[in-house]
Amino acid sequence: GKYLDGAITRGLKSHREHDSTIKRRESLIRHLQKIFSTRFKGCDLQAFGSSQTGLNLRNGDVDLCLIIDSKDSRKLLKRMRGILNDQGMEDIITIPRARIPIVKFRDPRSGFEVDIAINNSLAVHNTKLLKSYSECDPRIKELILTVKYWALQRAICDAYEGTFSSYAWTLMAIAHMQIIEPNLAPNLQLSEQREEVKIGKIVYDITVSNQITPGDSKCTTGELLAGFFDRFARGWDWQNDVISIANGGSISRKEKGWKFANPGAIEVMEAADEGEELPMGYHHLSIEDPFDKEHDLCRVVRPEGELTIRDELLRAARMVAEGKPFAKICEVVRPERFKNEQPEDLFHDLRTLKEHEIQSKLDNITSEIDTLTTRMDALEN
Ligand code: CTP
Ligand code: MG
Repeated sequence: GKYLDGAITRGLKSHREHDSTIKRRESLIRHLQKIFSTRFKGCDLQAFGSSQTGLNLRNGDVDLCLIIDSKDSRKLLKRMRGILNDQGMEDIITIPRARIPIVKFRDPRSGFEVDIAINNSLAVHNTKLLKSYSECDPRIKELILTVKYWALQRAICDAYEGTFSSYAWTLMAIAHMQIIEPNLAPNLQLSEQREEVKIGKIVYDITVSNQITPGDSKCTTGELLAGFFDRFARGWDWQNDVISIANGGSISRKEKGWKFANPGAIEVMEAADEGEELPMGYHHLSIEDPFDKEHDLCRVVRPEGELTIRDELLRAARMVAEGKPFAKICEVVRPERFKNEQPEDLFHDLRTLKEHEIQSKLDNITSEIDTLTTRMDALEN
């Protein structure tokens, strides 16, 4: 896997966020905080997810969590929709009946996709855990980002489409490093002193150790990536093991009590071909949430998604074994998915234009400025 190192470093560099993007996101978050705190008394709008962990690529969404005392999430989401609509937000979608009620939208000015989850305070805590992992060693951050990038390019990183969330891929990457290089990625939930929070009626152990022992490990990010693909393509017993970073990488299904339930993905798809609708069995590609131990992150995975994820892992493992370049391994699937991507920088829309097209744009803008200047002069007079 060492041969991948150079390409990974270059790839991550070119996908790092621009400073202007970070500023734009911060000002959007501040704006939303102001809007919501004036509309809802005593609420708190907190940021979590990749914008806070530093585990973000250029096209990450903005994850926010509204902490609010409200019983009726349907009504609340309806009000939020109204507020966001007044703010000129676009493509507003509310999902009131999800495990965590959510409103999604796009800010047309900054181009950001935003998710606001209601009372998902556990996510604020697990964000801290991920941040601690990413700060343990640069290789941890690099592997997570690389895995996320690969999964995104290969279209297997979207919980709404029935594949894994970025969060699930992040946990998988950490689990792999915990197993292969425990020095590099020690279990950060093992501290003597425990910390708990009560959310609703449930008490969660949210301990995150901050006494991190620096790792003595020589592996490179490329080797970690090669190992990651190999582990989850060939070396992982999905029928008997559960991914668990709280338990040092894995835990047996027996201990966990999660049975691999039928029908499986193939049976569900075969039944669908016959016009029959079967509900998919639980716990196929099991990933335990580090704090909410009852939550299996593969719950959102649909049959096609499951088969695609497994195919993609095999494809990547095979390509690494054949020494294929990183760019080929991460070749984009369905590029049209990225058409809404935010501009990289101020000159983004100019790079593909011919010189005379730019000149005519410039002429137009200059004449607009002239008109405005004349108008301003008139007003001032
Ligand atoms: N999260 C969670 N449970 C899930 C999915 C997500 O608690 N089933 C929380 C985690 O705190 C995670 C955050 O939501 O850090 C954001 O999830 P996601 O957007 O999937 O991950 P990001 O790292 O933000 O990825 P991206 O950059 O693609 O937005
Ligand atoms: Mg996110």
